[in-house]
Amino acid sequence: MSDPQIRLLCYNLYMERPLIQQIQSFAIPDGLRKTLLDLAGEAEKLSPSLSKRTAWRVGYALERIASEAADASLDVHWWEIYLYMLGKYAAEAGPTGQAVVDLARKAVSPLRSHFGPYQPVTLRLIDADTVRGVCLLSDTLEEPQNSMVAPNAISLAQAHFNPHAWFRAIYAGKAPVGFVMIVDDDQTPEYFLWRFMIATPFQRRDYGRQAIERLVDYVRTRPNARELGVSCGEGPGSPRGFYEKIGFISTGEVIDDELVLKLAL
Ligand SMILES: CC(C)(COP(=O)(O)OP(=O)(O)OC[C@H]1O[C@@H](n2cnc3c(N)ncnc32)[C@H](O)[C@@H]1OP(=O)(O)O)[C@@H](O)C(=O)NCCC(=O)NCCS
Repeated sequence: MSDPQIRLLCYNLYMERPLIQQIQSFAIPDGLRKTLLDLAGEAEKLSPSLSKRTAWRVGYALERIASEAADASLDVHWWEIYLYMLGKYAAEAGPTGQAVVDLARKAVSPLRSHFGPYQPVTLRLIDADTVRGVCLLSDTLEEPQNSMVAPNAISLAQAHFNPHAWFRAIYAGKAPVGFVMIVDDDQTPEYFLWRFMIATPFQRRDYGRQAIERLVDYVRTRPNARELGVSCGEGPGSPRGFYEKIGFISTGEVIDDELVLKLAL
């Protein structure tokens, strides 16, 4: 085996055997095995042209995707985020990374069939096992969308210093797909949606709408709750159309360059 191959296949020290060998031994359908082996093989060829850090991320992403595919007992599924990020890391390498970008795109459909649909949408506590993945969700957002919301890592840090911050990961079935944080102050009738995002590969699948429904279910249980407010940027990438579609109404007020909208509860 050449040096780059050794580098890609062995840098995760937790792995007992190289990933390609593991995939060969997994009890998974042959078609899916081929998809994973093709992806791992192309990623291995790409590895020498990546920085050490990106090569590590590529290897880690592949390992997560493959191990989730092989273990039906896992409670949390990150594969779709890691597959998306794998394509993104490969795209950073320019034309050399195109084969991995294409294979990552092609792998979505067989993996979706393998795992089945992700429903229902729930809001769950974030813990030591999931916090890193929840932060990674933000890395899937591209310009201009990512200028509409702070990275989840920043939101979680801010929450640490705000006694009224209430936050959850948004799940679709077993998959963490987004993040929500509100100002949960029962001394005021207006509860405020402070941060909200759905990771790129999960957008336009109705998860945002359902997450707001779950959030509203929660806020309705809070003292004095009569409305849910939000403010958002306008222009390219703006979520304004989303909020209006699900029942928020513009107040016309602008605070810090953001339009304020409200949803009656
Ligand atoms: C805004 C955001 C949360 C929407 O999430 P989503 O899961 O893609 O939304 P859904 O699939 O549930 O969409 C619900 C409806 O809104 C529509 N919609 C979604 N995003 C929209 C947008 N940017 N503009 C107009 N309509 C939009 C959908 O087409 C769908 O309409 P339909 O009922 O006719 O099918 C997501 O695009 C996002 O995370 N954006 C980046 C971060 C951001 O802007 N956060 C808000 C900060 S205030």
